[in-house]
Amino acid sequence: RYEKIWLTVSSVLIIGFTLIVGYQAFAMDLGPPSDMETIDPQKVDSTAPFDEPGITQIGDKEYEVVMTLQAFSFTPRDLEFPEGSTVHFIMTSKDVVHGMQIAGTNFNAMITPGHVTRMTQTFDEAGDFLVICNEFCGTGHEMMSTEINIR
Ligand code: CUA
Repeated sequence: RYEKIWLTVSSVLIIGFTLIVGYQAFAMDLGPPSDMETIDPQKVDSTAPFDEPGITQIGDKEYEVVMTLQAFSFTPRDLEFPEGSTVHFIMTSKDVVHGMQIAGTNFNAMITPGHVTRMTQTFDEAGDFLVICNEFCGTGHEMMSTEINIR
């Protein structure tokens, strides 16, 4: 009977998926990668480089942005770079989990308190890029946004 065969096949699949999910949850560390740089979230303001958030030009059309995220803002905000710039973001959160997504790009980072996230983005085209927090972080979450202007 075909029904028995399908029943057996689907049972095997369900058991298989359960084992895979179980393995991922327990055997692997589902938290942030354990080799991530850590930081005391209570002392962000006095820990380099976050004691001086801002933009530094480090090369020809190459910039480093030290950024803190906190409910409900990005510091610094309203960033501006010339067309073709490569921007290295170094980010941490001062309170809860935030996200940083740059609309129109593949840039999408989760910023967790206690960790330093580094990501690089090249802006080949001029435009105004909306930056939003995409992790629910409280009552002001919807207002947490800024812009990156490429000229
Ligand atoms: Cu920060 Cu949502």
